[in-house]
Amino acid sequence: MFEEIEKFAQQNYIPIIRPLSRKLLCDHVKKSKPEKILEIGTAIGFSGLLMLSCSTAFLTTIEKDEQRAEMAKRNFERYGFENRVNLICDDALDVLKRFVASNQQFDFIFLDGPKGQYYRYLPLLKKILTTNGIIFADDVFLHGLVRSKSPIPHKSRSMVNNMRKYLSLLEQSDNFESEILDIEDGIAITKKIDEL
Ligand SMILES: C[S@@+](CC[C@H](N)C(=O)[O-])C[C@H]1O[C@@H](n2cnc3c(N)ncnc32)[C@H](O)[C@@H]1O
Repeated sequence: MFEEIEKFAQQNYIPIIRPLSRKLLCDHVKKSKPEKILEIGTAIGFSGLLMLSCSTAFLTTIEKDEQRAEMAKRNFERYGFENRVNLICDDALDVLKRFVASNQQFDFIFLDGPKGQYYRYLPLLKKILTTNGIIFADDVFLHGLVRSKSPIPHKSRSMVNNMRKYLSLLEQSDNFESEILDIEDGIAITKKIDEL
């Protein structure tokens, strides 16, 4: 599906969700039947299109890069999804803070933005996620570095430490259940469970 967009992404070095992760994402979206999906990291709309086409949900998607956001907008229009998408071109942390302040709620969150920021987003995501809602976080192994016992190259160190922080925060979260899947570059799936 959406092969032309995938090809364009490959040719232009735009990272998009990998094949097995795509399937898992769609399976989770289908199973949880969300009404409101939030995506952090739109890129050119590939994963957004997948989630729209396997659900009836409304998608809010955030992309900082103006050029990518413009391409994503055109891609959503091209497939007739423009009425089911709110594309926000801004920094995700700022947008999340606004969502918390305005009490916005989402029942499925696809986290695929800047990897070093996941741990900063988590406290905000927990607030805007409905009970039984899911956070599907991609690329949590960072090409194997997150689980590596060897010294981490300096240029990747803070990103790896930040991702480790995200994974350890998940473990410490009451009312949230998480599983880390060893699929492609690692996927963390977190569910908000009923408060006792
Ligand atoms: C891995 S790509 C997203 C791929 C997309 N989800 C897909 O699978 O088709 C990550 C995107 O996050 C965007 N991004 C990076 N930092 C951001 C930030 N602070 N706020 C919002 N988007 C950001 C990047 O520009 C990039 O397009």
